[in-house]
Amino acid sequence: MTQAFDISRHSGSVLDLACDALVIGSVIGHALEGPASEVDKALGGLLAAVVSEEAFEGKDGQRVLVHTHGRLNAKRVVLVGLGKSADDGGRQLGARAARLGRESGFAKVAVAASARVSARSVIEGARLGHYTYDKWRTTESKPSKLKTLTLCMPIPKGERELGEATASAIMLARDLVNEPPATMTPRILADQARWVAESGGLDVTLFDKAALNEKGMRLILAVSAGSSEEPRLIHLTWRPPNVTADTPSVALVGKGITFDAGGLCLKPTGSIEDMKMDMGGAAAVIATMQAIATLKPDLIVHAIVPASENLLGSAAYKLGDVYRSYNGKSVEIMNTDAEGRLVLADALAYAVEQKPREIIDLATLTGAITIALGDETAGVFGNDQALIQEILACGAEAGEALWHMPLDSKLKKQIKSDVADMKNVGKRTGGAITGALFLEEFVGGTKWVHLDIAGPAWSTRNEDTWSKGGTGFGVATLLQYLSRAAARLKG
Ligand code: BES
Ligand code: MN
Ligand code: ZN
Repeated sequence: MTQAFDISRHSGSVLDLACDALVIGSVIGHALEGPASEVDKALGGLLAAVVSEEAFEGKDGQRVLVHTHGRLNAKRVVLVGLGKSADDGGRQLGARAARLGRESGFAKVAVAASARVSARSVIEGARLGHYTYDKWRTTESKPSKLKTLTLCMPIPKGERELGEATASAIMLARDLVNEPPATMTPRILADQARWVAESGGLDVTLFDKAALNEKGMRLILAVSAGSSEEPRLIHLTWRPPNVTADTPSVALVGKGITFDAGGLCLKPTGSIEDMKMDMGGAAAVIATMQAIATLKPDLIVHAIVPASENLLGSAAYKLGDVYRSYNGKSVEIMNTDAEGRLVLADALAYAVEQKPREIIDLATLTGAITIALGDETAGVFGNDQALIQEILACGAEAGEALWHMPLDSKLKKQIKSDVADMKNVGKRTGGAITGALFLEEFVGGTKWVHLDIAGPAWSTRNEDTWSKGGTGFGVATLLQYLSRAAARLKG
């Protein structure tokens, strides 16, 4: 567990503040303005001299550190480049300040900026930059000594709560993904979801194997058949106070494969090691529901997660098998490693039954999307241009990289089956698109967006807000979406 540090606010001059390091975010063209210029004066021009010697311009990632030797209450001043604009630099600034505190063994770090950054994003970034997953270590690799992070900027009403709630949710999602598969089975994931629901006053319905059988969710059952761990369908619901007939509702659906071995189409070494992350979509959706208790959006929110393992035990589903999904369409299995779209098919059909105005699904669906977009950007597919644009805007606000991909119906022939309504895999080319086209078959006419988060759900580096392992990608975008959805869907 990462121990928490306090976040406080300093309203006087930055010169008065005693701390181990005063971290000042600097924007290109305004590198030495605001608090940086105050500090420079107090140091008799030293900061400006170092900035010029080091050719510091405020470029993203640039950094300059100056010891003050008692000429300032802050022992050190650190200028941190935020690039062109401070708009999305708040998270970076907060993360770099908290990381500096952790890595240098500082107890007290202060944060200021030469241009306006939002306190909310600094708080979010600081919590995320300080996050580590140490649950299974006997001794934490290097315990953080950070006790207080002091913000030298206004914290408008409510921003602290929003920043903290967003960061807590993202860290919960990271914890869920980082937990080893042996201790994050579908049953345990469902227990975690129940705990989130009970602490936040949400309704919870859990379907176990018998219930899934009764309901006819044959695709979830097929995927889970190769494992002795039983599947679950998790359904959480947020209902705001005073629900009326006009209260809009939306559904969030997250792929919850707690370990993807590929089934009989077993993944090779090199592709299988990190496959506990195949519930990144589920983690994001469940964690988002945790933050809802703070956000209290005035709309009904369904969170639906099909949870299963994908193994190759003796009862495993086979190639050539045909199963009927929850919405009645039949699917021929042509690749047991294309399991995500199968469990999502049942879950999306179930989501449609809740009659939401919009469905957003998040899934670590295809390796192909990482070939197209790299490891840090999620692909956005959908059947409604306005909703796609809305999600893209939410991602931009939330600081998560999204890219619009075509739901190209020319590729639909790839998933035609010789014996059933469709098969679960197309060709290698356009693999992320055929995955999305498959999902589209299960949303009926409901407005729907699919985020393929196979790349950004997992990080291989510790840098800024990113930490190795699960990233919690999607939570920030979903919270942004929910905070705007009530007003948008009423209008
Ligand atoms: N969970 C994987 C996708 C994935 C790959 C996520 C790499 C994160 C990193 C998914 O279930 C899968 O195996 N997809 C196959 C689809 C193919 C069989 C059509 C893939 O990407 O190879
Ligand atoms: Mn797979
Ligand atoms: Zn998978």
